[in-house]
Amino acid sequence: MAIEIIPVPDLGGADKVEVIEICVQPGDVIEVEQSLVVLESDKASMEIPSPIAGTVVGLKVNEGDALSEGDAILELELAGEAASASGDDSTPSAVDSGVVEAAVAEVEVAQPAAVDSEAEAPAAVEAQLVPVPDLGGSDAVEVIELCVSVGDDVSEGDSLVVLESDKASMEIPSPLSGKVIELKLSVGDKVSDGDDLAVIEGVVAAAPAAENPSASSSPEAPSSAVSSGSAATAPAAAPSPSASPQVDAAASAGDSSASVYAGPSVRKLARQLGVDLSKLKPSGPRSRYTKDDVRSYVKQLVADVNSGKVSGGTGIPPVPEIDFSKFGEIEMVKLSKIAKLTSANMSRNWLNVPHVTQFDDADITELESFRKSMKAEAEKRGVKLTPLPFLLKAAAAALEAEPSFNVSLHADGEHLVQKNYIHIGVAVDTPNGLMVPVIRDVDKKGLWELAAESAELAAKARDGKLMPRDMQGACFTISSLGAIGGNGFTPIVNAPEVAIMGVSKAQIKPVWNGAEFEPRQMLPLSVSYDHRAINGANCGRFFTHMVSVLADIRRLLL
Ligand code: COA
Repeated sequence: MAIEIIPVPDLGGADKVEVIEICVQPGDVIEVEQSLVVLESDKASMEIPSPIAGTVVGLKVNEGDALSEGDAILELELAGEAASASGDDSTPSAVDSGVVEAAVAEVEVAQPAAVDSEAEAPAAVEAQLVPVPDLGGSDAVEVIELCVSVGDDVSEGDSLVVLESDKASMEIPSPLSGKVIELKLSVGDKVSDGDDLAVIEGVVAAAPAAENPSASSSPEAPSSAVSSGSAATAPAAAPSPSASPQVDAAASAGDSSASVYAGPSVRKLARQLGVDLSKLKPSGPRSRYTKDDVRSYVKQLVADVNSGKVSGGTGIPPVPEIDFSKFGEIEMVKLSKIAKLTSANMSRNWLNVPHVTQFDDADITELESFRKSMKAEAEKRGVKLTPLPFLLKAAAAALEAEPSFNVSLHADGEHLVQKNYIHIGVAVDTPNGLMVPVIRDVDKKGLWELAAESAELAAKARDGKLMPRDMQGACFTISSLGAIGGNGFTPIVNAPEVAIMGVSKAQIKPVWNGAEFEPRQMLPLSVSYDHRAINGANCGRFFTHMVSVLADIRRLLL
């Protein structure tokens, strides 16, 4: 059994090139030229073909490894003829074969010789003609994308154009930093080594030609009508004459579809952002993906997540879009900004917070008779004394009695933020949507002050006059539908708060007093809480305290 180690072939000078895909598995029987791995630098991707046929015994690389020429890729048990041909010599004869050497893809343009020169020449702004570099033997390669426009500032190494043959796509990097003055080719042009590509005006140190004869006299250096220098010349790491880029634009890690056409840098960007290219619509020529396609896709996704349109990776399938006009007459009503914000916040809170809702009725018979007895005084003071200020005071008392409700979960997942202040939000129904102004230091304020402040904030909310600071800093929220109706509801916690109280409509109900049924004014209440921060027992204590205070408001004095 002859085992060969298949190494990384000549990469045209490229070093530490990332493995983005492993195309074979141990046990696979492979043919000559079958792709083993796909490597990708920031300029090119290349499939490394097998120089021999055989069975894969073991892999020596993992995805993400950085490989250089000569590094072992895998162990191959040779097929019949190859095995006998190789004899006992386990040196990788195939490594040196031209087949493997052909797997060269990196296309680089030489650094301007003058820039590299250690000669201390004065810097000068100079228009340089940048030619198409050595394409490793390929000829008449099509320009499929222009990565820059006239006027763009480019840095050395930035891609200028993307070329594509039937085997490879390659980005041609700028050999210098500067401003693009002219583009000498258009999408669809067929180009070969040395053709004019662009004129770039850059700062270069004008090295004396005599000191760099190799650069200016290179047979591959194009004649320049613009520059007398030798800025853009032959590739620093020109592939061997027989080499042809084995870059398959369709090959892409993570892109299962072979019909995905994108340059290496586009695929690299897609991979960095976790974008599956096959999910995008390509906008480039010949259905190629561009970097803008990837950016627009991510931008749209973020916008959808922020607006609550999609679940943001929770795996929850979106509700299908339906054409309701199929079923009858419809009209489209534009959502207000507040409605859109509420929608996003509700989705966020509903999906993030594990909710539990507990219900109880508070006997507010005495509270109501006290409140009504204060009507005349309230009128004198110019305020309306509704049940809300009492609820605010009772909630503040319960928050003091059960501090586990007055917390937020810290983002580090290691702490609770215990608050030593009591600010309470009040949900207000407005023509524009739901708003939650916050009343500060409820524990320190009296009923009149709370009545006046809640009425003022509710009016501001309805008039659209609330400032952002009026809606910040709540520890707890009260959502009252008491004036509207209902027996009970399950409010959604307004994170980062950990609890919210829902107030429904008070009604006279028969309550057993131990001897008989008595008509009592009962107020249905519900408390939803974040079960990560609060346990049922905490809620039981919180609720008991709240209900007892509402049943006998003298307790507020204790
Ligand atoms: N049961 C019975 N009646 C109630 C009540 C309750 N729980 N709560 C209020 N009422 C009564 C009030 O006493 C008042 O009657 P009165 O004039 O005879 O005294 C009447 O209903 C109207 O009260 P209102 O003006 O709404 O004042 P309020 O202080 O009770 O409420 C707001 C103020 C801002 C909370 C309220 O106007 C509001 O916007 N509620 C809607 C909140 C909301 O949409 N929540 C849902 C969030 S998803």
